[in-house]
Amino acid sequence: EKEVKILAIESSCDETSAAVVVNGREVLSNVIYSQIDIHTLYGGVVPEIASRKHIEKITQVIRQALKEAGCTLDDIDAVAVTYGPGLVGALLVGVGAAKAIAFAKNIPLVGVHHIEGHIAANYIENRDLEPPFMCLVVSGGHTHLVKVVDYGKFEILGVTRDDAAGEAFDKVARAIGLGYPGGPKIDRKAKEGNPDAIEFPRAKVAESVYDFSFSGLKSAVLNYINQAHMRNEYINEADVAASFQKAVTEVLTEHAVAAAKEFKMDKIAIAGGVASNSALRASMKTACEKAGLKLYHPSPILCTDNAAMIGAAGYYEYINGTRHGWDLNAIPNLKL
Ligand code: KG4
Ligand code: ZN
Repeated sequence: EKEVKILAIESSCDETSAAVVVNGREVLSNVIYSQIDIHTLYGGVVPEIASRKHIEKITQVIRQALKEAGCTLDDIDAVAVTYGPGLVGALLVGVGAAKAIAFAKNIPLVGVHHIEGHIAANYIENRDLEPPFMCLVVSGGHTHLVKVVDYGKFEILGVTRDDAAGEAFDKVARAIGLGYPGGPKIDRKAKEGNPDAIEFPRAKVAESVYDFSFSGLKSAVLNYINQAHMRNEYINEADVAASFQKAVTEVLTEHAVAAAKEFKMDKIAIAGGVASNSALRASMKTACEKAGLKLYHPSPILCTDNAAMIGAAGYYEYINGTRHGWDLNAIPNLKL
């Protein structure tokens, strides 16, 4: 088997990242420049600022990734880049850089779907993982229950009808004054609280068993806080965080395990920023052990946005023959 060395670029949101990945599974470098400190000042990602920061950092990040991998552009076989979904101005920076390099070096250009990248993050540390498997993708922008039929071949079983799981974490964190980004802060706060202290609703979507809905839960938490304020009652933030987190992770776990059983899968993987949540990992572990399913997850640095996961997904697209032309564009609402 010939070695395929891919330079991967990710810039869909607020991380500027470049990586060098061999044969989809071996990461030689994974440089991530996070813009989080700037966006924290505004309580969330400001698209215009994100685009500008990507432009400032992209060349530096790519150079660093090549240097850490101990190679030059002459050693690279193909360039993989996220071209959607995401913020259009942010995506365009990565796509532009990838096109420039592929054109200058006359090597293939492979556009990658961001969610396919999150799923492929699981291949990096789990060399034994191969499709088919069930995958729960939970991030700031997405909540997808995906049947991974083969490399690059997916069936979406369920999506969120309103807020993404990570978005709910971020909004609830803001409401209880924990700041941005909310996910890791709620995770930490919840460790001091009682997950059974407050009974928040577990939303079911009537017509579709695998769809999700988190806006009702978010409103219930906001109502709880507002009412306590009106009555001048003390709010136990740790209990709110723990009870909210339990309501989210319970639904995610139930859906993923039920889908794995129905479609006769013996493996479940979790992916995306929320996949590093300790309560989700714990409830998935318990439920998978009970159901006799093998559970996979990336380490936290590969859960949140990074280019190594794009290099992993990009390799399988490359092997499958995916090639993009110089007209490759950023597609903010790209479908999986
Ligand atoms: O995958 P990601 O970096 O970006 C998107 O593609 O959206 O995910 C970021 C999201 C944020 O909403 C963040 O609050 C959430 O993942 N997140 C977490 C945790 N770490 C990150 N949510 C819950 N618990 C965590 N430990
Ligand atoms: Zn992401």
